[in-house]
Amino acid sequence: MITSTSPSHSVQEALASVVFPETPANMYDPIRYILTLKGKQVRPVLVLMGAELFGLQAVTNAIPAALAIEYFHNFSLIHDDIMDKAPLRRGQQTVHEKWNDNVAILSGDGLLIKAYEQLAKCPKEYLFDLLNTFNKVATEVCEGQQLDMDFESLESVTEEQYIHMITLKTSVLLGGALKLGAIIAGAPVAQQQLIYEFGVYVGVAFQLQDDILDVYGDPETFGKQVGGDIIANKKTFLLIKLLENASQDDIIDIQQLLACDLQYEPNKVQLMKTLYAKYNIRALANDKKAHFTTLAFDTLAKIEVGQDRKEQLYNLAGDLLNRIR
Ligand code: IPE
Ligand code: IPE
Ligand code: MG
Ligand code: MG
Ligand code: MG
Repeated sequence: MITSTSPSHSVQEALASVVFPETPANMYDPIRYILTLKGKQVRPVLVLMGAELFGLQAVTNAIPAALAIEYFHNFSLIHDDIMDKAPLRRGQQTVHEKWNDNVAILSGDGLLIKAYEQLAKCPKEYLFDLLNTFNKVATEVCEGQQLDMDFESLESVTEEQYIHMITLKTSVLLGGALKLGAIIAGAPVAQQQLIYEFGVYVGVAFQLQDDILDVYGDPETFGKQVGGDIIANKKTFLLIKLLENASQDDIIDIQQLLACDLQYEPNKVQLMKTLYAKYNIRALANDKKAHFTTLAFDTLAKIEVGQDRKEQLYNLAGDLLNRIR
């Protein structure tokens, strides 16, 4: 009997069916831990949706690529949480907090290798293209992460530099996920490029929403430390716009706030939020998110497949941009 399952269900099943070794426990327990905490699993779902968009019937052909992308993403989160000194992930302790930095570094490395192990299981005829796409995107994510860290200690960053940085650290992985699916479905190169661009635009809007949630998220549902970006002096879209719009007097206050650690200014997050409110910064971030969402949907419209095939991507993108976690 043929049963049809949703991409999200297929991803969950595939992730749950992989068994990691028991020992060394300090290498594999953190991997099991982060994967069991589950996330939204957006990227592996995008791999499958990219494949379905271009008519792939046998979804099993795209499963290893979906797992590879989710493993890579989780690897990047384990290391990102060390770099960002983050205490919480998906509502639970981060790996480096629960274990320690060394365990987080090595289990992250292990998960990255597991991503390649999955990639190697993809259909042979597409392996060269898949590897090239995956490697390019993975390198860019690292480049974006380095820029994100470098920006913490810069006095100011332009909107253009910011968009470039988030395109690398976040957006190309969403675009890359869709493109892997398109490659496996045998889509023409021009169509692969369009679906990649759609994903990159969605990814920019996704990271803008991430920046917004970092300040305005509900601690109950968000799953991460609210205010973490303010504490770390991240040059988010919100801070960039505040520095662009604030009066000379307020700029001096902002600079002082940025120079203060939480231990010297326990109200750092609240004080920054007051300034954001004064200059309507949240609305500016929402406008920018809407701008990139429009670019994404315009790009999706250009893809040469029937409208009905695009529906699940429209819906997913819409949900993501209004997400609360
Ligand atoms: C978090 O990604 C990292 C960013 C690029 C913002 P997600 O918000 O997709 O995290 P999970 O996987 O659902 O936890
Ligand atoms: C993370 O950006 C991007 C990568 C993990 C590559 P963030 O640092 O904003 O992600 P969160 O907020 O910790 O999930
Ligand atoms: Mg982080
Ligand atoms: Mg980070
Ligand atoms: Mg964030």
